[in-house]
Parts: sequence; C-alpha cells; structure tokens
Amino acid sequence: MDQPSQQAELPTVRIAHFSDIHLTVRRPGWKLGDRLSKRVTGWLNLKLLGRAARFRHAEAITDSLLASLLATQADAWAFSGDASTLAFPAELEHAAKRLQVGNANLPPAVAVPGNHDYYLASVVRDQVFEAAFQAWQQGIRIGSHTYPFAVRVGHVWLIAVNSARSTFWVWDATGKVGSQQRHRLRELLQQLAPGPRIVVSHYPICLANDRPEPRWHRLRDWKEMIAFGKEHGISLWLHGHKHRFYARSATAEVPFPTVCAGSATQTRLWGYNLYQISGYQAVLFRYQYDPTLKQFVIHKTTTLNLAGNPIQPDNTS
Ligand SMILES: [Fe+2]
Ligand SMILES: [Fe+2]
Repeated sequence: MDQPSQQAELPTVRIAHFSDIHLTVRRPGWKLGDRLSKRVTGWLNLKLLGRAARFRHAEAITDSLLASLLATQADAWAFSGDASTLAFPAELEHAAKRLQVGNANLPPAVAVPGNHDYYLASVVRDQVFEAAFQAWQQGIRIGSHTYPFAVRVGHVWLIAVNSARSTFWVWDATGKVGSQQRHRLRELLQQLAPGPRIVVSHYPICLANDRPEPRWHRLRDWKEMIAFGKEHGISLWLHGHKHRFYARSATAEVPFPTVCAGSATQTRLWGYNLYQISGYQAVLFRYQYDPTLKQFVIHKTTTLNLAGNPIQPDNTS
C-alpha cells in the first residue's frame, strides 16, 4: 500500500479513530428494576436478533485493536462511543479496562458516550461512562460542564461533543446535541487558537448521501449542527453509531467532511481509521481486521480536504 507523501512545510499529526466496540460481561448485574426498563428490549435484541453473534469476537478483536492502535504510533486516539451493550456499570468499567483507559503509556485520547452507554437515565445521571473514561475526558471546557471539551494535538483541536442521551421509548434511538451544549461549544471554539476543529461525537450528521438517518435513529438537531458547523468553522466531524464505515467530503448541503469509523469489533465490519493531517488536508487510512492474519491491516486510503481557513504559509517578503 502506497504511503502518502508528506507535505514537509506543513505541520502533520496522526489521529486514530475507533468506535462501537460494544463489549459486555457474563454477569452484568441485572437488578429487579431492569426488568421494566429498556434493557429488556436491548437484551432481546442481543439474544434473539443476532446482535450477540455479531459481536461474539469483540473481546479478542478489542485486544487486537489496541495492539494495532499502538503500532500506528498515532499522536492521539479518538473514541466515538458505544463502549458497552446495555450500559451496565460492570460493562462500562470492563470496556475501559480492556481499552487500558488511564494507562499513562498510551497516547492522549478523547472519548464520548454512545446511546448504548446512555441506555438509562440513571446511568446518565450517575455519570457512569464519564467515571470509567475519565482519563480520556481531560481538556479545556466551559466551567464545570462535562461537554464539550477540547484537546490540542499538534496543530489540530479534537473537540468532544456529546450527542447521546437516554430516551424513553424503546424504538427511540435518536441523539441530540442540544442548544445549551451548542451555546457552550460556540464559547469554547472562540477561545481556541487557530487550527482545524475536529469534532468527535457519536451520532452522524448525515448518511453517505448527505441525507439524515431514519427518523427514530437520527441526530435530532442535525440541521442545527450543519448550520452551526458552517458558521463556526467545524473542519471535520468524526462519529460512529452506524456500524459500517463511510467517509464523505464537504458538499453544498453539508459543508464539512464527515467520517464514520464503523464498528471496530462487529464481525466482518471490523475496522478503524487513522487520519494523517497535514495543514487542512487529511489522508485517511482505513484499517480492517483480517481474520486469517488475526490483525488489522490497511485496506484503503482516501484523501479529505478539511473545511475552514487553511493555515497560510508565510509568503510575505
Ligand atoms: Fe453502536
Ligand atoms: Fe450507537
């Protein structure tokens, strides 16, 4: 596989992006109240509709993922959520442990929750995900609000935006950033030094064809986030939630590129992305798990132009 030529005059960073590992544990800790909660339908989906089978290798693949991520020598990691299956504290703690969250020898990392990590309101209230992934949630933030927060990596900013929330109805898998978080995001972006603004969030803004996801699966305020990104200069939107990888360039409808990492551990879809970002141009290396080799290998590369004002070379004389 060809390696991209470096643009030596521009600063370059490498960000590894993975998502939707969906780990679980043998005894997650069912309680009486769970039998009347959304966890029951989630469990039925797991057992009867084949989800458990699709993730039966998730533990081993996560170990392989970690080895591959380390081998890339990326400057930072971005995890876009769905660490767990049903948001049991035992699952979230196990997932964080398996990913070695808190290991000081790993590169800095940014993590946001997915809808499976926010399955119940009580889990959100008790900040179970945030406690488990605390080491991957360090950054510049507005006051004591957990989200959004920003981490500088070389010349780029990784900006964690929470788009997951708990919902009441079993069929409702929608996400939302919300106007209050958007307000803080505006304030945060104004504080940051120049450089590409790369959002890390669970939900997609749109599908590969620029259309929103189906009504009960989409980011509810996708239109507002497109307008926000246009006005405040979002350079790239990294997400998960959809388990199949796709990358789309900026268009008239959605004026910044978006990339879905897909699931890192779901059988046959398993993969992650490495972005090598020089100035405002990114080369995306798509890694895919090879079950024969039992390791992740580069599957293809794509070039993306990030939105925003490029860093102008000093051409004054
Ligand atoms: Fe997922
Ligand atoms: Fe999800």
